[in-house]
Amino acid sequence: MPSIDDRHQAYVRRLAEYSQSHLLAFWHELDSGQQEQLLDDLDQIDFARCTSPIEAYIRNRPAVRIPDTIEPPTTFPIEPSPDQAEQYAAARRAGADAIRAGRVAAFMVAGGQGTRLGFDGPKGAFRISPIRQAPLFQLFAESLLGVERRYRHRPRWYVMTSPANHADTADFFARHNFFGLSPDDVLFFTQGQMPAFLPDGRIALAEKHRVALGPDGHGGSLRALAESGALADMRRRGIDTISYFQVDNPLVQTIDPLFIGLHLLTGSEMSSKAVHKAHDLERVGVFCVADGKLAVIEYSDLPEELARARNSDGTRRFDAGSIAVHVLSRDFVERLTAAGSTIQLPWHRADKKLPVVNERGELITPASPNIVKLEMFVFDAIPLARNPLVLYTRRDEEFSPVKNAEGADSPATTRRDLVRRAARWLESCGVGVARSADGEPAQPIEVSPAFALDADDLREQLKSHPLPQAGKPMLLAS
Ligand code: UD1
Repeated sequence: MPSIDDRHQAYVRRLAEYSQSHLLAFWHELDSGQQEQLLDDLDQIDFARCTSPIEAYIRNRPAVRIPDTIEPPTTFPIEPSPDQAEQYAAARRAGADAIRAGRVAAFMVAGGQGTRLGFDGPKGAFRISPIRQAPLFQLFAESLLGVERRYRHRPRWYVMTSPANHADTADFFARHNFFGLSPDDVLFFTQGQMPAFLPDGRIALAEKHRVALGPDGHGGSLRALAESGALADMRRRGIDTISYFQVDNPLVQTIDPLFIGLHLLTGSEMSSKAVHKAHDLERVGVFCVADGKLAVIEYSDLPEELARARNSDGTRRFDAGSIAVHVLSRDFVERLTAAGSTIQLPWHRADKKLPVVNERGELITPASPNIVKLEMFVFDAIPLARNPLVLYTRRDEEFSPVKNAEGADSPATTRRDLVRRAARWLESCGVGVARSADGEPAQPIEVSPAFALDADDLREQLKSHPLPQAGKPMLLAS
């Protein structure tokens, strides 16, 4: 291990090379612990990787490029047409076979900072289920246990964290005995970091001894899969299909045989699930064919006239909202991240407010955006994939994310949607559910994903379990 002095000297040279020498401006004011901390922060930065984005995205503000042609995509519908019925049935069988054969792994991105929710801790530790108050992580773990019950194979689970929440995440799993999984079933790894930049391209200091660093976006997950050894781990285990989801959506089907089967049978390298948008300006990415390629345009980049555009029959023209659920082929991720690959996902610029240290060493709390963050988005890989597909799914079955503390996409709406879904499943199995005058279930209801993954699964389970009583809290857990 080189001494602090040696590391410092190396950075004096390196930072001069990249015009970032100001990061060491307060070196002599720092105690040795702080000096070490600063060097550790600098170690997190890939300076060579920052050079071209500084020019292209920070010093110059890139215009949002609107493609020359934008068309709605071809999609697979929720219910197959008569012509597609056999294809869907074959896909379900192929997906189930792949799951049973251990070819499919779950991959959760949980590196985000969860600032909008205002929860102090990894977002997955947030308690969400209506009766047990089970945290998000637990519901995903139970979903994998449900998959195991159904397909007699427990899928491996790759969990991407960020340096800021990694230790807390791993600790939370350990304290909860991995929610019934074994530590060997889960591989945690951290995503890359990007510094925050001042508008002139200099990297910002959050304190005299702390660089302002943040996660590099979920697009960084592909590189992180490669660099962490997760891809190699998959290859060793014969996993060739990656089922990707976000930590914020507890209704997700973590591993869905139909979706996986369609992906495999159509030779897709990256597949995505969509829901019909709730309203024109819903804050979800929208699938489209941009300059001939399937892509997602993020809500903030979609011109309002396109968001509001209508087909001749009055239906919404760009209606396929991304729920950030994908299936990726391992081969595809390997190709994108291979040593020497020149493929780089685009960066997205976000102007934010962050207290930073100025040249005089004063901490300045800004009144308006003062720094720029750069993130990559995983859906920017879709145009690079062969045969990418979009499968519509039911929002009330699979999508209700926890994003905000209140209002839309908040814990209240997610809990409501979990209860509504459970009530619907029970009623479809012939179990009475008391409802209030407004039609909402009159008692809390919770179905653990380990107990049942969907309504059909619940019907099977209820053949060998006692029926819950209407009017009381209904908990179905194994
Ligand atoms: C995201 C999608 C949006 C989609 C919506 C569905 C983006 C930019 N947009 O919106 O198209 O319709 O979800 O719910 O993603 N994450 C990391 N590392 C990071 C950044 C994020 O792991 O560096 C994870 C978060 O933990 C979270 C997820 O990615 O699980 C979503 O990130 P967030 O920034 O909250 O995206 P949204 O604006 O909610």
